[in-house]
Amino acid sequence: MGFPSSRPRRLRTTPALRRLVAETDLRPRHLVLPMFVREGASEPVPIASMPGVVQHTRDTLRKAAAEAVSAGVGGLMLFGVPAHKDASGSGAVDPDGVLNVALRDVRAEVGDATVVMADTCLDEFTDHGHCGVLDADGRVDNDATLAVYADMAVAQVEAGAHMLGPSGMMDGQVGVIREALDAAGHTDAAIFAYTAKYTSAFYGPFRDAVESSLQGDRKTYQQDGANVRESLRELALDLAEGADLVMVKPAMAYLDVLRAVAEVSDVPVGAYQVSGEYAMIEAAAANGWLERDRAILETLTGIRRAGADVVLTYWATEVAHRLAAE
Ligand code: PBG
Repeated sequence: MGFPSSRPRRLRTTPALRRLVAETDLRPRHLVLPMFVREGASEPVPIASMPGVVQHTRDTLRKAAAEAVSAGVGGLMLFGVPAHKDASGSGAVDPDGVLNVALRDVRAEVGDATVVMADTCLDEFTDHGHCGVLDADGRVDNDATLAVYADMAVAQVEAGAHMLGPSGMMDGQVGVIREALDAAGHTDAAIFAYTAKYTSAFYGPFRDAVESSLQGDRKTYQQDGANVRESLRELALDLAEGADLVMVKPAMAYLDVLRAVAEVSDVPVGAYQVSGEYAMIEAAAANGWLERDRAILETLTGIRRAGADVVLTYWATEVAHRLAAE
């Protein structure tokens, strides 16, 4: 027999056949749009390292949120850029702080039509740029930070967040936030835990986006890229503490971690396609080095295939529009 009887190419013959047998689906509802809002801005401010992404004004944030909803985007993740920062990140717990004001605005705009999420982390609000408060020796103080996260979480839910994204990688953060929310009567507010968050060069453009004042690095609290077993330990802890969804971040350099987490998680799994992943493709496309639209869909499909139920991506609205038009 000179010819193979099993011919995988047979199922690739027509678009209809390929559609029929596609294993992985990418729909608008799978996508979450991260958004930035800048305190006091009267015009949206472009972010140089993230072409197409801006720091919103209160007004343009509402409009962009409404557009994301009309495209069918599954959720919005809000980050604030305060005008003033201090050592304890006090703007994070202030009901009139930029992020809490923005949550109120966005929730008033979209209601329950999408899931409104808030970044529950101090790095945008601290003058030293760390994700927590510092002890007398200048180290990030885990348990002192937890107390602030608890207050921040309650303030965010009272401002309108359906779901919180604690991204600081402090030990015990999910449990402390869950307890604080329950004690305040917010038992329906959900926690999207940043379970496996690695120290990454791919966060570079985000730090421009939030005008981070960080000196040094986050290696004592974010995970080491050499490790995968550690992510399963983080997963067990977050689930025990009450995480409703869990996340792996960044996405593309950690697809094996995503797969490992997705195989054992009994709650939905998200992946965050971070700022550097966005910048990389936009920069290559701007140089004419790859086909932008195809490359974007290929990465999102790959992240879904690796096991993500939900993908955070700065392309969420654009891609949702494209998918809806298919
Ligand atoms: C911390 C936070 C970061 C990102 C999301 N939440 C920055 C960091 O850990 O340094 C990065 C997201 C991105 O790069 O797109 N609040």
